[in-house]
Amino acid sequence: MFTLPQLPFEPTALEPYMSANTFSYHHGKHHKAYVDKANAAIEGTPMANMSDVEVVRAAKAKGDQGLFNNAAQAWNHSFLWNSLSPMGGGSPMGALKDAIDRDLGGVESFGEAFKKEAVGHFASGWAWLVHDGSALKIISTHDADTALVHEGLTPLITLDLWEHAYYLDYQNARPGFVDSYLMHMINWDFASENYAAVAA
Ligand code: FE2
Repeated sequence: MFTLPQLPFEPTALEPYMSANTFSYHHGKHHKAYVDKANAAIEGTPMANMSDVEVVRAAKAKGDQGLFNNAAQAWNHSFLWNSLSPMGGGSPMGALKDAIDRDLGGVESFGEAFKKEAVGHFASGWAWLVHDGSALKIISTHDADTALVHEGLTPLITLDLWEHAYYLDYQNARPGFVDSYLMHMINWDFASENYAAVAA
């Protein structure tokens, strides 16, 4: 069963870049609804005993789009909260920095490419830094789709591009939202942990 996790920081901790008001809707209403709907769909089925990741993958494999949308969004948002930090922004350290230098031309180039992908993505979805088994890549996915179910990809960090993620704080200015993420909120420690697990 899915659970709505506690935010890993106070709801005011990312202000002014992401407001407590945004979290009250985004975490308290949107994310909660995805969790509740995914659980309602799997209750009483063998999927109720699977891990969250297994449910997302099983829904995809079965072609159950309704369950996939809610299960993937439940997982994506838990991953998103960990992708944010009040101590975020700046540059990664260590092995992840070396990999970004090698595969993406450095942290500055990463930022430019990530912003281009995130701003250029049409309508709702997610921007990701992923590892494809040999190198780092920046991709985006549509609607509920998640890098988690793309063959060979391991998600390292994400940003929600749905309007509900930024409209209260930035209105329609997605570029400003992405800038704030890259400069002030991106949790490089989380990305580094995920990179260490996949690159080991
Ligand atoms: Fe969202």
